[in-house]
Amino acid sequence: MVEAKQFGPVTQFLMGRTYDGYTVYTMACYLIEALLIDSGPHHTGEEFLQALQEYEITNLVNTHFHEDHIGNNRLLQERLALKNTWVHPACIKEILNPHPWAVKMNQYRHIAWGEPQPSVVTPVPDVINTANYSFNVLHAPGHSPDHIVLFEPEEGWLFLGDLFISEKLNTLRSDEDANDMIASLEMLSKLDFGTLFCASGAVRLDGKTALKSKLNYWLEVRNKCLELFRQGKNTEEIVTSIFGAESRLAALSEGDMSRNNFITSLLKAAY
Ligand SMILES: [Fe+2]
Repeated sequence: MVEAKQFGPVTQFLMGRTYDGYTVYTMACYLIEALLIDSGPHHTGEEFLQALQEYEITNLVNTHFHEDHIGNNRLLQERLALKNTWVHPACIKEILNPHPWAVKMNQYRHIAWGEPQPSVVTPVPDVINTANYSFNVLHAPGHSPDHIVLFEPEEGWLFLGDLFISEKLNTLRSDEDANDMIASLEMLSKLDFGTLFCASGAVRLDGKTALKSKLNYWLEVRNKCLELFRQGKNTEEIVTSIFGAESRLAALSEGDMSRNNFITSLLKAAY
């Protein structure tokens, strides 16, 4: 499934693999003039390429190296006249040769998104210009070490990749760093922006309020978590005390996305 939707001059392509009758783990790429943000998962490649036929795309930028964001780099490089594919240098090796880590992905990631092929990428510049817009590229690690955010100050747009997801998100992947994410959200909360464009597909016109609300929720959970830790509670007890129980997502993602991971990561602030 690939669906295009217009938000002023920004085109969103929401996509996901249809598996067993359901479209699973959708994600969104964005196109602004000739700049494409993220290339989508491998499993939706041909359909996405078809949807892009009516557009002229010069440059591609990946918000981070996860397989649903770089999955069609190679395909688009081969089939479109791309001049550049930009990434943050922290995970360039993982994009040049994804197989060593992709082969170890949980099964749900193979089913939903698939393994990306190697692609040719170069370090992203500090500023990306399109015909009418100028994007500041900001390093915002936490969801991944290489995560970047694109900020267009004149329009007040923030393209957030996977950094936001939702205000009350309380599960974490095992490879995420919750304290780095809090630091990134604190940095972004000081910017003057209005609209959030998320890779989840959410477009939030109340972007500043939404981002601050998420930051405050995570700070509140971290404070509670550290207090319970000081009282001698272990991770499982803290999860139960704050959330009542583990999230159903934990079982659906083979334990990859869980409240246990969230608390374990937050507790690193105690050491
Ligand atoms: Fe991601």
